[in-house]
Amino acid sequence: MSRYEGRRVVVTGAGSGIGRATTVRLVREGATVFAVDRDDAGLRETAGLVEDPARMLSHQADLSAEDEAVAAATAAAERLGRVDVLVNVAGILRTTPVTSLDLEDYRLIFAVNLHAPALLCRELLPHLPDDTGVIVNVTSTAATKAHPGMTGYAASKGALLSFSISLAAELAPRRIRVVPVSPGGVATPLTADKRTYAGIDLSWYARTYPLWGRPGRPEDVAAAIAFAASDDGAYLNGVELRVDGGSHS
Ligand SMILES: NC(=O)c1ccc[n+]([C@@H]2O[C@H](COP(=O)([O-])OP(=O)(O)OC[C@H]3O[C@@H](n4cnc5c(N)ncnc54)[C@H](O)[C@@H]3O)[C@@H](O)[C@H]2O)c1
Repeated sequence: MSRYEGRRVVVTGAGSGIGRATTVRLVREGATVFAVDRDDAGLRETAGLVEDPARMLSHQADLSAEDEAVAAATAAAERLGRVDVLVNVAGILRTTPVTSLDLEDYRLIFAVNLHAPALLCRELLPHLPDDTGVIVNVTSTAATKAHPGMTGYAASKGALLSFSISLAAELAPRRIRVVPVSPGGVATPLTADKRTYAGIDLSWYARTYPLWGRPGRPEDVAAAIAFAASDDGAYLNGVELRVDGGSHS
């Protein structure tokens, strides 16, 4: 597979789960990936999994901080020279009933899940080529499907979905595509300890995968991202791509 031969890609959240699987997949398909995560050890682990470690450039940053997000984008542009694709994967999940809402928690969720992707778009769009540039934002089925106990997370993903739809129209004059990709439940560290929280039973979540009766795998989402950002997805723009085994229906 060489859909990404010569392409330069920025992937955030590359130190675990979906971001790691995306990095591994895109390097295998020929890309050079600038891999960002706050977790240095996670990045090193990902580097040990990619087919050609020379085509993964690691950068540690806490993307909830504006200066670190800007510095990551600057480093990406410098080290890659050009950025063909931006894949915003980094995200956090907090489960809290709204009666115990902690505004600081909401601020952090929005900083990572919405503000960081928006900042990276702002900083990297000058480096994305007209006609072929692509931005993929990893949202969630939580954006449009009730996720009790996850209101802040769901709201942040809904905001990222709306952001992506409007950005696609904003960038249409440059023919840069924006594709929001919404996974359903995927077995990663993000969801591993979230079956119950503060008395809220989240077990319903595990019963919503009609297709294979299992949660998604990071590789399922990586394959969809690889499609969406490649030339195969050239007519896909501003529309949510759900990767959820049918759990939304
Ligand atoms: N796992 C699921 O069920 C699921 C479902 C729908 C959407 N998603 C979304 O997919 C994305 C990836 O999730 P995952 O399941 O792979 O989770 P994960 O926890 O395995 O990976 C998330 C990565 O983001 C990084 N990260 C978090 N905060 C950061 C910050 N401030 N700065 C830099 N990096 C940061 C983490 O270090 C981690 O490596 C997230 O946006 C998540 O909301 C996941």
